[in-house]
Amino acid sequence: MTRVATTRAELADALAERRHAGERVGLVPTMGALHVGHASLMDRAAAEVGGGPVVVSVFVNPLQFGPGEDLDRYPRTLDADLEVCAAHGVDLAFAPTVEEVYPAWPPAVTVDPGPLGTVLEGASRPGHFAGVLTVVAKLFGLVRPDVAVFGEKDWQQLALVRRMAADLCLGVDVVGAPTVREPDGLALSSRNRYLGPEERLAAVALSRTLHAAADAAAHGLAPAVDAARAELREAHKVDLDYLEITAPDLSPLPDDPAPGTPARALIAARVGSTRLIDNVPLTLGA
Ligand code: PAF
Repeated sequence: MTRVATTRAELADALAERRHAGERVGLVPTMGALHVGHASLMDRAAAEVGGGPVVVSVFVNPLQFGPGEDLDRYPRTLDADLEVCAAHGVDLAFAPTVEEVYPAWPPAVTVDPGPLGTVLEGASRPGHFAGVLTVVAKLFGLVRPDVAVFGEKDWQQLALVRRMAADLCLGVDVVGAPTVREPDGLALSSRNRYLGPEERLAAVALSRTLHAAADAAAHGLAPAVDAARAELREAHKVDLDYLEITAPDLSPLPDDPAPGTPARALIAARVGSTRLIDNVPLTLGA
């Protein structure tokens, strides 16, 4: 069974003995509405800590939502989330209130994500990554994990958390785990549950676009971009926010990348009122 802690004190109590015994602690930060993708992060965390406790945080972080975004309608499904945690052997779920995480609101001190926080998702969602990094830094401080596992679906978030952990010497190994997809290619996301039946069918255009880029990448950067754009022209009900091919660390690619250059294709689009993101790795000119 998964124990539940809702306060900082309960969290510290629940971990004290295991920490004292020298066990490694794993953390999977989530906003709940857990799905098979999250379950894969739990399994990865368990493998990383080899018998040590895995903590899953379930917290819809208001600081990372902008005005007019889906903070109020974000699904809150704690009972079902606890079942997923239990099925994957999670020792402890940390499900705090907003007041427990942010005793003073708004917080006076936040984490500045720097220039990487202003592109792609950061350009479309100003303040988003300051909110993400602030809550992740708090969770790292509260749980004091040896390893924390994040999904590659949020590639920019993963890059920023890695950078924060390194630059601020937080002493946490940040591990990325591959995106889990539906059989038709749609990346699993808690927000997929907003999609109506027709939107669900339309949403597959995001992964199709990225895979078209990956398939054409062997011919170079321009063919990859062309193939992605051609795929997008076939899409219905998809309102593109961005489609970019960058270096894996999200820096711009050189004008004429050498054959074999690794890259990342990233997309964000609205399907109906639901904003979805996805990304895939590709190798240029291989
Ligand atoms: O990826 C998420 O679900 C959230 O951004 C995170 C990392 C749990 C921070 O609130």
